[in-house]
Amino acid sequence: MARLALERAPDAADPGRFLRTVPAWGALAGLMLLAEGDALLASRWSPATVAWVHVFTLGVLGNAMFGSLLQFLPASAGVALRGGPRHARALHVALNLGTAALVAGLWLPQAGLRAAGAVGLALAFALLGAATLPGLVAGLRGGLLPKGLALAVVCGLATAALGVLLVAAMNGAVPLAITRWTDWHAALGLVGWALGLLVAVGRMVMPMFQGTPALPARAQAAWLLGAAFGLPLCGLAWAVAGDGRALRLVVIAALLAFALGGLWLQARSRKSAPGPLVAAWRYGFIAMACGGVVLAWPGAPAVLAGVLVVAVALPMLVLSMLLEIDAFLGWITLHRRCGRGLQLPGVQTLLPAARRRGVLRLFALAGLVVVLAAGWRQGLAARLAGALLLCAHLFLAWAQLGLSRAVRGFAVAHPPR
Ligand code: HEM
Repeated sequence: MARLALERAPDAADPGRFLRTVPAWGALAGLMLLAEGDALLASRWSPATVAWVHVFTLGVLGNAMFGSLLQFLPASAGVALRGGPRHARALHVALNLGTAALVAGLWLPQAGLRAAGAVGLALAFALLGAATLPGLVAGLRGGLLPKGLALAVVCGLATAALGVLLVAAMNGAVPLAITRWTDWHAALGLVGWALGLLVAVGRMVMPMFQGTPALPARAQAAWLLGAAFGLPLCGLAWAVAGDGRALRLVVIAALLAFALGGLWLQARSRKSAPGPLVAAWRYGFIAMACGGVVLAWPGAPAVLAGVLVVAVALPMLVLSMLLEIDAFLGWITLHRRCGRGLQLPGVQTLLPAARRRGVLRLFALAGLVVVLAAGWRQGLAARLAGALLLCAHLFLAWAQLGLSRAVRGFAVAHPPR
């Protein structure tokens, strides 16, 4: 297992900037649901729904995943990043301005804004690839971690490329069977990029933070191979040849294997008192498994499967890790600022477990009500879910603010000697 290398970690401001942006996008997702109500959950193809999907996939998950990668690669995976703080700032601007333009362009709908969003996001993913892939490729012989991370980043790039193509098709620039290509784009983004990153990172962080055994190397290699070959080949079969059965099967198998594998590992945890992270991941695994079952169920509503995976499972898994990473970034800041020989407050003091638990419980409640609203199509439930999502993200922002205050307070009280 790779060891933490604090000296290689970037300036905490670089990943921190992405993590602090997450609640703003999450609050927007809540506001959209509060304003649009049931209409947002009626069909996967309504402009507002597709915009809402990208508030989650790019605004919430994208910021959390870009920021976590910038921290995780050098500090935990021993992978050198190209580009310094300026590159990280450009990445942050391109991702967030691109997402804002794409979401507005999809929602209104407005072709020019969609195109501007696609350009900004293509730049953001290209900058991410330029920063991470040279180091990842150089370390490919180093085991499953760099292979899994490289696969996730390549799938992110492919998702962005197909997203740009879809925008061009919507704007009438290229002829494309949009619904089929959208399925391929969505599968690459959700399974290859988002889940791929969790599978790669999970093998290291689950034993570290949750006391589970490591996922057997063969099981992980099988998942990665399935995604690496299944997503491009079966995606092509659907997009070009019109046969979608294999792609559906690959996505269902990837979701179920991830979720059931995670629950199996958690059941073997050494921890006698599981903390909020373990509970949040269990919730995320269960929501992911339900998403897989709904997708496999003939005639089940696609929106329900989408909500379970995009709005509940992935945010729960990613945001609960975000709290750990954010607290760790605060600790690194103090470690660097206050010098050696000083007893620093632990991450549990900087961001107390009770506060993490509070944030995650609110997310869990919001997730449950979003699922009920999507399954039973109750207008009031949808608006309540929107209000809860909004509150959960405001609570997350408040927890992050409290963490920053604790770090600043300690640094001011203990100036470098
Ligand atoms: C360059 C970045 C991206 C662009 C330009 C983009 C663009 C698009 C477009 C144009 C559609 C089809 C909309 C329609 O036909 O109405 C779409 C659908 C979708 N995209 Fe993206 N996308 C991007 C990134 C992502 C990422 C990173 C993910 C996942 C992690 C993602 C997940 C999805 C999903 C799940 C759908 C289907 C939505 C639905 O069924 O309601 N996209 N995207």
